[in-house]
Amino acid sequence: MSITAETSTPTIRAGAFGNATELVCRECGATKELGPHYVCHECFGPLEITYDFPAITREQIEAGPANIWRYKALLPVPDDIEQSPNLEPGYTRLLRADNLAAELGLTKLWVKDDSTNPTNSFKDRVVACALSAAREFHSKVFACPSTGNLANAVAAAGARAGIKTVVFIPSDLETPKQVNSAVYTENLVAVDGNYDDVNKLASEIAGEEDGWAFVNVNVRPFYAEGSKTLGYEIAEQLGWRLPDQIVIPVASGSQLTKVHKAFQELIKLGLVEDKPVKIFGAQATGCSPVSEAFREGWDVVRPTRPDTIAKSLAIGNPADGVYVLDICRETGGAIADISDDEVRAAIVLLARTEGIFTETAGGTTVGVLKKLTETGQLDPELETVVINTGHGLKTLDAVTGLVGPAATIAPTYDAFVAAGIA
Ligand SMILES: Cc1ncc(COP(=O)(O)O)c(C=O)c1O
Ligand SMILES: [Zn+2]
Repeated sequence: MSITAETSTPTIRAGAFGNATELVCRECGATKELGPHYVCHECFGPLEITYDFPAITREQIEAGPANIWRYKALLPVPDDIEQSPNLEPGYTRLLRADNLAAELGLTKLWVKDDSTNPTNSFKDRVVACALSAAREFHSKVFACPSTGNLANAVAAAGARAGIKTVVFIPSDLETPKQVNSAVYTENLVAVDGNYDDVNKLASEIAGEEDGWAFVNVNVRPFYAEGSKTLGYEIAEQLGWRLPDQIVIPVASGSQLTKVHKAFQELIKLGLVEDKPVKIFGAQATGCSPVSEAFREGWDVVRPTRPDTIAKSLAIGNPADGVYVLDICRETGGAIADISDDEVRAAIVLLARTEGIFTETAGGTTVGVLKKLTETGQLDPELETVVINTGHGLKTLDAVTGLVGPAATIAPTYDAFVAAGIA
């Protein structure tokens, strides 16, 4: 199989992709018509969607629904997207985090809490855009290779849309993430290998089988655009302005690049004032190829074999790693990594300061925020946003040994007093 093996462009209705105009290669700029294509036919670089946006006002957006479709004019989706059954993700809370800020010595901190999406991670956003593309391509199967959360989101969205789903995961994934997929689909496939092995298998199937929409493989350009909505929401919820700095978890790196793209688009459209935003990336040391490249000053990312409790971030060969490096360097940000014990501690820190239970990816992001503040790479005087991308109930094991009953007592008042809790 060659990596360019792709299905031909199916018949596509007018307006299927809204204001999107074509696919453009990120490396050489070659263009291709909108379709289930993901690699450049000239240089094998990744393809990205470009648009011809009309004038869009804040008022038009504010009049939209309280989900990602309020930004549908900025996404590769049709104008009638809300008519098709989907999970309607997004418009999650942006919470002022004064307690955590005080703990870390920051002046002004916000948590963008994406754990409250329908399947409890930001992946519902990207999957909603991929589902729209799969529909427009008349795909028969909705599928993905996943580190866990994506499989949950694909399985649930496919169930609601009435399309067959097949989701592939590494077989050593946390039980809650397996159950959170299997409950929605009978086709959860556990693969003996790590995520990078699963991803390779998915690319092969996508090249061989007709009518399969692998959300993060052959419809990746459409899928990835969904992460822009995190950036749009943060700006809108801040009162149509950009923060000074933002900390984002990095697995494939797609989300970080798309939040940056969203900020740039809002500036170009005149929806926010132009200002610099420092972008920081977060990884767990056990899978930190992008952080390593940043630290060493490399222009390339050297693939690694993941070994960390942050399994949702365990991508050893990140597709967008080099673009993450470019963005963090250009904006004056950085990429850092922390140990698994620091990830666990940060999960508890966020829970006890802000009442938000995050998964290991969020622990990684909050822990890296703490580390960057301590090392002085992040300016404590600037307004900061940290993204919580997933829910702690999916990675309970990470903190099970760390938190638990303060005491086990007899059901008597005396025993309570003796425990010294009052
Ligand atoms: C909870 C969570 N956060 C962050 C990420 C990173 O996303 P990306 O691959 O876009 O870097 C993932 C990816 O699977 C995830 O599951
Ligand atoms: Zn190219």
